Amino acid sequence: MRYRFVLGAAPLVVLASCATGSGSVASEGAQSMAADYQSFDQSFVGSVQPVVNGYCTGCHGGERPRARLDLTAFENTAQVVAAMDVWDHVRQRLEAGEMPPEGRPQPSAEERQEVISWIESLSDYEAQRNSGDPNPVP
Ligand code: HEC
Repeated sequence: MRYRFVLGAAPLVVLASCATGSGSVASEGAQSMAADYQSFDQSFVGSVQPVVNGYCTGCHGGERPRARLDLTAFENTAQVVAAMDVWDHVRQRLEAGEMPPEGRPQPSAEERQEVISWIESLSDYEAQRNSGDPNPVP
């Protein structure tokens, strides 16, 4: 597969146009190609957060989150990207049907798949975005 790189494009122009919320997206995106998480943010709020808040944060939140995984700490896509390895585990556990643990309320197959697909798409998007990075982090 070949990707088109947009090296040296002015990231600030794009970021300014989508700087609707906090400034965190801008600081995350500045590291390589401009990141545009707008549609990811929409599905994060619309599809991912409801599943996580409904089925995960009872254990992965609060004072002593299980496995020291606090899923309440993630409020937008940029924060997920900053912890992509953690979310890769989330995807794996969901795919394996291992989380939530047996005997606990389970999301529907559709809800589960939506979260898995969201993580996969984001991961692909990041790989593509960073493939133009002259100094990739190993
Ligand atoms: C009833 C409590 C409970 C619920 C609900 C729960 N988990 Fe867990 N989770 C645990 C425990 C306990 C562990 C540590 C043991 C293990 O790894 O199986 C864990 C481990 C994990 C890990 C591994 C963390 C790591 O460092 O690799 C991930 C990822 C995870 N959970 C994701 C989820 C997701 C996503 C949901 C919701 C869909 C969820 N969990 C719901 C109790 C829970």
